[in-house]
Amino acid sequence: MKPKVYITRRIPKEAMDIIAGRCEYRIWDREDEAVPRDVLEAEVGDVDGLFSLLTERIDERLLDRAPRLKVVANMAVGYDNIDVAACMRRGITVTNTPGVLTETTADLAFSLMMAAARRVTEAERFLREGKWKTWSPMLLTGVDLYGKTLGIIGLGRIGQAVARRARGFSMRVLYTSDRPHPDLEAGLGVERCDLDGLLKESDFVSIHVPLTDRTRGMIGRRELSLMKPTAVLVNTSRGAVVREQELIETLREKRIFAAGLDVFETEPLPQDSPLLELDNVVLLPHIGSASIATRTKMAVMAAENLVRLLSGQEPLNPVTV
Ligand code: DGY
Repeated sequence: MKPKVYITRRIPKEAMDIIAGRCEYRIWDREDEAVPRDVLEAEVGDVDGLFSLLTERIDERLLDRAPRLKVVANMAVGYDNIDVAACMRRGITVTNTPGVLTETTADLAFSLMMAAARRVTEAERFLREGKWKTWSPMLLTGVDLYGKTLGIIGLGRIGQAVARRARGFSMRVLYTSDRPHPDLEAGLGVERCDLDGLLKESDFVSIHVPLTDRTRGMIGRRELSLMKPTAVLVNTSRGAVVREQELIETLREKRIFAAGLDVFETEPLPQDSPLLELDNVVLLPHIGSASIATRTKMAVMAAENLVRLLSGQEPLNPVTV
């Protein structure tokens, strides 16, 4: 008998083919609507495997309803949506999709730095709204990126990829990390620094830590107050790493130059969020890894992890806590 699987969203055909060949599956076959919680709870009752996205909360309550579950294959590198410890206690393997989205996400972090520094989206709104009357010396002037100092919070795969891009812009790169990386310091020309020092010295700060109990809320009013008034903050990791209300106040009072955000405390960003009223922030709908090639690779990787585990092989990307 084939293992039973539930897939929580429509996914690329390449990944569907992997699952369909080896499993019996049901799917929440929608493109842009997350599976409602009550549907998910009902669907997991008889499944051996779950293909999930970061929009699904995999907690004790859900696991209680899934007595046969053996694997949760998350189509994301981050897995803060999953209670991994609870899964491990029940012998359920959790997998993620590291590596394949590194360069794509680093590209977006860099895009956000440049867009926020040079007011790209604000300038486009200005033009579209018919406000462009004439070329003028100080119209929509921003801050330069070339040759400036970049602070990378978390020098994991994506942080390193951002550091590599920064070399092309002759930037000095500082980083924070729990431990020194002498090999990377030599190879990438980056300098380790404590968080306060990095915030004080950097012209651009880019966040690349996973969301954990330690990193939740790590950038708040105090940290933001250490940044230069000309600095730009970029977050492509998880929204809850930054205390959003405190960032809003900082931006409103123009105590930093701008921010570029791809992630938020609540996603989708509520339509009444004060962020939507601010011109000095570039806002994106969590598209860090959203290239066709990368999202396809992520889906295939998650599907392979799922199928391997259910056919008695070791998954390629198990996560532990
Ligand atoms: C992840 O993989 O964790 C991203 O947030 C989505 O690509």
